[in-house]
Amino acid sequence: MDGNGRWAKQRGLPRQEGHRRGLEALRRTVRNAGELGVRVLTLYSFSTENWRRPQTEVSFLLGLLRRFVENDLAELHESGVKVRIIGGRDDLAPDLRMLIERAEILTRGNDGMTLVVAFNYGSRDEIARAARRMAEAAVAGRLKPEAITEALLDDWLDTADLPDPELVIRTSGETRISNFLLWQAAYAEFVFTPVLWPDFDKAALEEALAEFRRRERRFGGLGEAEDRNVGAA
Ligand code: FPP
Repeated sequence: MDGNGRWAKQRGLPRQEGHRRGLEALRRTVRNAGELGVRVLTLYSFSTENWRRPQTEVSFLLGLLRRFVENDLAELHESGVKVRIIGGRDDLAPDLRMLIERAEILTRGNDGMTLVVAFNYGSRDEIARAARRMAEAAVAGRLKPEAITEALLDDWLDTADLPDPELVIRTSGETRISNFLLWQAAYAEFVFTPVLWPDFDKAALEEALAEFRRRERRFGGLGEAEDRNVGAA
């Protein structure tokens, strides 16, 4: 969800206004994704690196998360959305942790779209935390090193039980991954759009989904055309 700051700057507005409009785009996108049949939607709302921003901006973003959970949780729950939060929790303020846990507990029985909010999230941090907990389990005799496989590591990540993303969309013209789902996005398709996040609407989402459908996904194997060639050889 990149480009809030630039959206505001282009209009001579404070960055905070960009984030406020970013939250509106977030709400809109949750609704649109549900309508378009997306089963799991992950939104990168605050990275482990975002703590380096000025204190006022960090506080504002924390406030937006609080406001989002407090104001929107009931409606999300009513629409059958299951909420998951990924990212480090140990260093978060206790009230924020409780809010996050409440959202997950309230919605865990829902079977509609899963909304994953990546907050205080960084893929390297996630993998390091998983490795640390696995090492602790190994030392305690609860995990045999030879049992560690790709599938097992999957189960120790914040995204345990969630499918790998098929499509990653980055807005605002930047073409970096920025520490987002590095492990999980190994075979994801990437769509980079120049649209700034506050302007991201249903048409932009539909365009990204259409681009995804045009891609041929081979997962390291041969595509359909090559399969046929091999058969004819
Ligand atoms: C990147 O834009 C955006 C963020 C770091 C925050 C994303 C936040 C929202 C969409 C609002 C909802 C927030 C929560 C926590 C639910 P940027 O500020 O880096 O934009 P720029 O690159 O144009 O400066």
